[in-house]
Amino acid sequence: MRESHAVLAAAILIAGACSASSDSSQSTAAPLTTTPPAPAASVTTAPVVDDSYTERRTTMVERQIEGRGIRDPGVLDVMRTVPRHQFVPERLVDAAYGDRALPIGHGQTISQPYIVALMSELLEVEPGQKVLEIGTGSGYQAALLAEMGVDIYSVEIIPELATEARNRFDALGYQVTTLTADGYFGWEEYAPFDAIIVTAAPDHVPQPLVNQLAPGGRMVIPIGPVGAVQTMWRFTVDETGELVGERLADVRFVPFTRSEE
Ligand SMILES: C[S@@+](CC[C@H](N)C(=O)[O-])C[C@H]1O[C@@H](n2cnc3c(N)ncnc32)[C@H](O)[C@@H]1O
Repeated sequence: MRESHAVLAAAILIAGACSASSDSSQSTAAPLTTTPPAPAASVTTAPVVDDSYTERRTTMVERQIEGRGIRDPGVLDVMRTVPRHQFVPERLVDAAYGDRALPIGHGQTISQPYIVALMSELLEVEPGQKVLEIGTGSGYQAALLAEMGVDIYSVEIIPELATEARNRFDALGYQVTTLTADGYFGWEEYAPFDAIIVTAAPDHVPQPLVNQLAPGGRMVIPIGPVGAVQTMWRFTVDETGELVGERLADVRFVPFTRSEE
């Protein structure tokens, strides 16, 4: 693996960008259940959006996202439309557009809006591309990518969160193909992927994910020790097939858990 210094984003230390809540109970057994991809001819339902939150979304994008340098119009557009408040527990709806991660149960979080936007931009996706997400969580990141027009495949290790996210996608009309499993192994059945996003932090790059990247593919992933500051990396498979890594920012993510732990 080669480390590139060509693109070194401003180091941003985001304390609590995606930290776990105090509830550390986690499910470890991960039965393999999937939702099948939609048939090609299926009709996509328009997502249901509560307009009374439009102003809060607009302010969130202006101050937290554009204000910190995110420029991808596709990312900005979907962050203005996807109803983040419908991805958080009811008691936290008022905090949904705040500048921080929020607990979603089972010791997990929905990431800070800025981190979600940054990772989405770093993926450099185009409509029609195939993207794998490891760590469905609330489903917010996957919904944004679905709205950007990509085919999104999302894997979650905690069965309860996977079920809640699946119900949310159905209720809101987002087309996301989901799997309940240990995402360390990626999703071989649908590989290769144009981009892979990992929303929990392992201490090394899972080799199966590298193997499932298409030539020219991008992987955005936080790597580092549990409970400490980690590094956000973007890995790209270059024209010679070599994996090139770019160190991008200091972040804090929940741990990447394994099914046999
Ligand atoms: C920061 S949270 C989720 C953020 C999520 N993308 C969202 O938009 O809400 C990280 C998620 O990764 C999941 N996770 C951790 N290790 C995993 C693994 N090995 N495979 C799949 N999911 C994993 C956690 O259960 C948690 O739901």
